[in-house]
Amino acid sequence: MEVFCIALHFLFAQSSLGILDGMVNSDVSAVKFRLEEEKEKRLLLENDMEILMLKVANLTRTVEKFAPGSTSAFTTAPSIAFMAYRKTILTNLGVNQKLIFDKVATNEGNGYSAVTGIFTVPVQGTYFFTWTTAHAKGYTFSDTALVTGLVVNGEYNVHAWLGVEIGFNMAGNSAVFRLNASDAVWIGVAKGHGVYSNAAEGWFYPTFSGYLIHI
Ligand SMILES: *[C@@H]1O[C@H](CO)[C@@H](O)[C@H](O)[C@H]1NC(C)=O
Ligand SMILES: *[C@@H]1O[C@H](CO)[C@@H](O)[C@H](O)[C@H]1NC(C)=O
Repeated sequence: MEVFCIALHFLFAQSSLGILDGMVNSDVSAVKFRLEEEKEKRLLLENDMEILMLKVANLTRTVEKFAPGSTSAFTTAPSIAFMAYRKTILTNLGVNQKLIFDKVATNEGNGYSAVTGIFTVPVQGTYFFTWTTAHAKGYTFSDTALVTGLVVNGEYNVHAWLGVEIGFNMAGNSAVFRLNASDAVWIGVAKGHGVYSNAAEGWFYPTFSGYLIHI
């Protein structure tokens, strides 16, 4: 009886070992499978991380460009800005004559000529322009309104009407143009004979300014 029991026990142990073996084997392959899965996920994450690092590097470069003291953000767009004015009265003007703003306050990029009154576009870009004329009653040219226009390559665009009905007044206008290099911009007379400025008092009214907004 006892021998039989032991034998039975042994058989039973053998078969449960077999079951255990099977269980261990399937656990191992499950773990292997999970490992493969994790490996794939890690590769995807590494790939995402690499893209992120590139983006961070790009952003860092951009931020550094605009850091205080940095000039690199502006190296592609040159500084172009001018402002000229007149200290003295202009008289005997005629239609199509250029107004000469002979005192140059600013001429970055050297586009403006105080001799000709012409701004020659140094580089293609979008430019802002503004100008002002003045009238004072009692001067020789006060017989008629002064109309001036912003002229681009000989073509009159926006205008400014300066009436002569009241003692003193001013008129001006502004414009934004997309221009090519070598284009010529000036303030031309469409009607009228004179522009006022006050050299005696040191009060100067007529101005012509412009600058490059972007290339
Ligand atoms: C980083 O910048 C370069 C050049 O500007 C660009 O070609 C690249 O696509 C950018 N990379 C990322 C991840 O944004
Ligand atoms: C600038 O050049 C382009 C191409 O030649 C032309 O189409 C355009 O009219 C020019 N712009 C001006 C303001 O002359």
